[in-house]
Amino acid sequence: MPRKIIIDTDPGVDDTMAIYFALKSPELEVIGLTTIFGNVTTELATTNALRLLEIAGRTDIPVARGADDPVAVPFGGPVAFVHGEDGQGNVFLPPPTTQVIDQSAAQFIVEQIMSQPGQVTLVPVGPLTNIALALRLEPRIAQHVQEVVIMGGNALGPGNATPSAEANIHNDPEAADVVFGAPRKVTMVGLDVTHKVFMSDAHLAEYGRINNPLAQHIARIVPFYRDFFHERSQIDGIWVHDSSAVAYVIDPGLFKTEQWPVRVDANDSISRGKTWPAIGDTDRHNLEPWHNRPRVNVCVDVQGDKVVEMELARMRS
Ligand code: BDR
Ligand code: CA
Repeated sequence: MPRKIIIDTDPGVDDTMAIYFALKSPELEVIGLTTIFGNVTTELATTNALRLLEIAGRTDIPVARGADDPVAVPFGGPVAFVHGEDGQGNVFLPPPTTQVIDQSAAQFIVEQIMSQPGQVTLVPVGPLTNIALALRLEPRIAQHVQEVVIMGGNALGPGNATPSAEANIHNDPEAADVVFGAPRKVTMVGLDVTHKVFMSDAHLAEYGRINNPLAQHIARIVPFYRDFFHERSQIDGIWVHDSSAVAYVIDPGLFKTEQWPVRVDANDSISRGKTWPAIGDTDRHNLEPWHNRPRVNVCVDVQGDKVVEMELARMRS
C-alpha cells in the first residue's frame, strides 16, 4: 500500500522537483497539495500548484489554498531572486484552467487526517503556518497524523535566510514552534542534511534528456535556480532541499537521525527562526524552555548520492 501524503508547498523550483519526484514514486500516493507563501505569495503558490498538476496530467489531485500570512506577523515577501518572479524560473506559464477546492488548506488537512487516522503523512516544504492552523482547528490531528516530515530548520549548522535561520522556519517561527511541539512523530529534514545532497550540473542536465513532461518542465525552470546557487555559494549545481524530505518518506534508511526536543526562537532577536535542539542527556531536555517537549526526529546525516540517484531514477521511470 503506498503511503498517503499531503505536500504543503510554496512552489518554487525545488518544490516543483519534490512534487514531481513524489508523483513518480510508487511508494507514495499524493492525496493533495496545500499551498503557502514563502518563495512566492500564497496566491501565486496556488496558481503554480494547479499549473504543475496540469503539466503532470494529475488534475485528479485536489489543491487547497493556504494562509496568506504567518500566524503572528505579516509575510515578509517573496524571493524572486531565488525562484524567479513567477516562482518557476521566469518561464511565465499560461494561467491554469483548473481550480482550487472549496476548503482552506487547514480544513483539508484536518479532514483528511481525521477521516483516515494513522494513514496520512504531512510533508511541509514551506513555512509551517498551515500545519499550525490545522493543529489549532483540530488538536487531535497531532495524535492521528502518521508522521510530519518537514523540510526546514538547521540543528547543528548555519542558516540560509539569515546566518542563524533556515528560510521556511524563518518565514513563520511562531508556527514552527507549535509544530515542533506536536506530540506525534515529527521529523526534521533540515539544512544539516540538505546541504549534503548535491545535484551537480551534470545531474541537472539529465532532466533535459528525460522524455516526459515532468522532467521537461524541471529542465526549463531549474537553470534560474542553479544560477542563484552559483552566484550565492559558488557551487556548480544545487543543494537539494525539498526533495530530500520526499526521499526521507520513501527511504528513511538513507538518513541518520537523533531524537531531541526542538524549540524555535520566535523572539525579535538575531536568531529569530533558528531551531534549537536540546542536545545531550535528559537533564538538558528537562531545562526550560525544552521541558516537557516531545522529541523531534532530527536528520543529522544522509547518503546524499543515493538520494540524488533515487530522484533521477524516479524521473526516468
Ligand atoms: C527552503 O526554502 C525555499 O526557498 C525552498 O523551497 C526550501 O523549501 C530551503 O531553505
Ligand atoms: Ca519550499
